[in-house]
Amino acid sequence: MAALRVSGTIRVPGDKSISHRALILSVLAEGDSRVRGILDSEDVRSTAGALRALGAAIPELADEMVIGGLGLRRLKQSARALDCGNSGTTTRLIAGIAAAHPFTTRFEGDASLSRRPMKRIAEPLSYMGARFEFERGDGLPMTIHGVDLRSIDWNTHAASAQVKSAILLAGLVSGVEVRVTEKSRSRDHTERMLRSMGADVENDGAQVCLRPARRLAPVDVEVPADPSSAAFFIALGSLATVGELTLTDVCLNPTRTGFIEAMKRMGARIEIHSISHRAGEDVGSLRVMPAELGGIRISENEVPSLIDELPLLACTAAAAGVELEITGAAELRVKESDRISTVVQNLRAVGVEAEELADGLRVRGARREFSGTIDPRGDHRIAMAFGILSVASGNRITVTNPECVAVSYPRFWDDLRRVAA
Ligand code: S3P
Repeated sequence: MAALRVSGTIRVPGDKSISHRALILSVLAEGDSRVRGILDSEDVRSTAGALRALGAAIPELADEMVIGGLGLRRLKQSARALDCGNSGTTTRLIAGIAAAHPFTTRFEGDASLSRRPMKRIAEPLSYMGARFEFERGDGLPMTIHGVDLRSIDWNTHAASAQVKSAILLAGLVSGVEVRVTEKSRSRDHTERMLRSMGADVENDGAQVCLRPARRLAPVDVEVPADPSSAAFFIALGSLATVGELTLTDVCLNPTRTGFIEAMKRMGARIEIHSISHRAGEDVGSLRVMPAELGGIRISENEVPSLIDELPLLACTAAAAGVELEITGAAELRVKESDRISTVVQNLRAVGVEAEELADGLRVRGARREFSGTIDPRGDHRIAMAFGILSVASGNRITVTNPECVAVSYPRFWDDLRRVAA
């Protein structure tokens, strides 16, 4: 196989999870919040559009934004359905807020989002007092009749930051205490940002408790680079034969570093430098060098910390010629696509040995050129994961509908071309 040479420094775009939360929490604060480096992507635009429809004055997404907060419980009924596009985070987090306002809100989305389960938020929010209406199963369109909600102490079935955040936001807006217990800890950006705005939020392992607040202070956030986007270049730098890559300003929140840890266990050479602390988040630079990778198993307890990177891990194992087994990851079936079947079918389409498990997958990689056409089924992370597999295994894989990366990383293909020769 030809040598893969990489070089350069990349600052991948702002973190998607933090960007959604920066917009939502700025609107709920009293006074002007400052947000720098927000991710300008389709998903974050969906959140901005939904908040505008509910009466918030959100300027066009830009590198430097000042957002005038309305305060808790000051949103207005939207004249039309909220268009959540492809974004589960937009739907579930804003559902938590809508459920706590005394009006009716209808949520719509694209075909992929409309298939995703909303029962996981409808259950706790209904228990708190809101009323939900569905037209097809528990997917979108979804209508919520909001009320003054009551307190809740909820155990989530799956570790999901979206469900946890929906409950926290519902409690925040209604001014009631809420407690959420997860099987394993999901990403905690909501808690961190709320705390930096003066809210009383306590995390104790996989349990989080929010006590009532009368107001939320404005926030000043500099959104760090998204570790889920940086992951593509951590994989590429590790699979390369010559050179190195530097990734700057990456969010190193410990609930998001599972991919880095998994890659290190596989033998990756990743150095972490210049760690700083910004608006409640750890941020640092990564230097990634080529390495001889080995096989790995991923099991349930570590899944939440790398849930969005599992398709990439499968492609990385394929290109490295090693074995990978993932279990305890049934959540992958209800992401932007069924990521277990999308990954396995596409790996097979380019000649990789792979098999589906009910709650995961197995891959047996090979150090050779893979070729063929893959269909990411409109799923941004699948398109990018196969983009890395293509470059790492000889550039003979065609990704159909490559534009779907606009959901989280619009300039992905340009960055990839720039650093890989
Ligand atoms: C997200 C939480 C995760 C993740 C998604 C973003 C968030 O989803 O997969 O990409 O910003 O809260 P779940 O909460 O459904 O696990």
